[in-house]
Amino acid sequence: MEAEEPLVSMMTTIKDSAPAEMDGDPRPIGVFDSGIGGLTVVSELRKLLPNESIYYLGDTARVPYGGKSPATVQRYSLEIASLLLEQNAKTIVVACNTASALALSVLEQRLPVTVTGVIAPGAQAATNATRNGHIGVIGTRATIKSGAYERALCNLNRGVRASARACPLLVPLIEEGWLESRITDEVLMEYLQPLMDDGIDTLVLGCTHYPLLRTAIGRLLGDAVTLVDSAENCAAAVKRLLVRENIEAPRAQVGDLRVALTDPPDRFLDVAHEALNLEIGEVQLRSMT
Ligand code: DGL
Repeated sequence: MEAEEPLVSMMTTIKDSAPAEMDGDPRPIGVFDSGIGGLTVVSELRKLLPNESIYYLGDTARVPYGGKSPATVQRYSLEIASLLLEQNAKTIVVACNTASALALSVLEQRLPVTVTGVIAPGAQAATNATRNGHIGVIGTRATIKSGAYERALCNLNRGVRASARACPLLVPLIEEGWLESRITDEVLMEYLQPLMDDGIDTLVLGCTHYPLLRTAIGRLLGDAVTLVDSAENCAAAVKRLLVRENIEAPRAQVGDLRVALTDPPDRFLDVAHEALNLEIGEVQLRSMT
């Protein structure tokens, strides 16, 4: 673990060195998740926005959020977001479906910067993708219980029908690194068969971890079902927001990624690192007290 580095002095150096080319906003995008799964969103942000610096905070001390109450998830999300503001985040990305489902409106009301969640971008991509108007959604118990995806889909298109299913066993399987395994395939089929029988033609991967199972899910469902990855669409929404708010990073800036966790990383960091091909570097430890 390395000590916190002073962001303010780093930004002063960037600004002072190349004023003409450095027009823009060098502050980092703050990204948080209940744990490490949100790195799927970071991976898409890095691909799409290489100039942007990212400060990622994973609440590994309190993961999982997926079985917790709305009040608890809201409190945790506000606490984590305040740590991102201390890092001078210019905008905040909630790279957690559960926190997006239960806490996005509280964050929007209480934070002084814009907030992007993963639900609306995922719902938008799903309504664009569906041909028969029947969309499946999978996520944690809390996400599915909240009905957030159904509401977002219905707001976009009243004619769309949603079939949602909580898949609580998938997060532990992914964290074990069982991305291609007979047991994971069996669990997936148990969860997905009823959605297939229902006639969905599009499936929203409504949990930060699930993009790591994209290959397995695609293999099991075949070409007839389009998989919608909320990570990819969230990154596109952040790009649009930066342009709209005129807070894009300077064109000459080479974005960096700093990862901080509230508890030391476990094996899942290696799984995510390998699956996402992300350059993570030293991980900082942030205490919640
Ligand atoms: N990050 C959570 C989500 O996207 C999954 C892990 C958890 O339950 O906290 O819903």
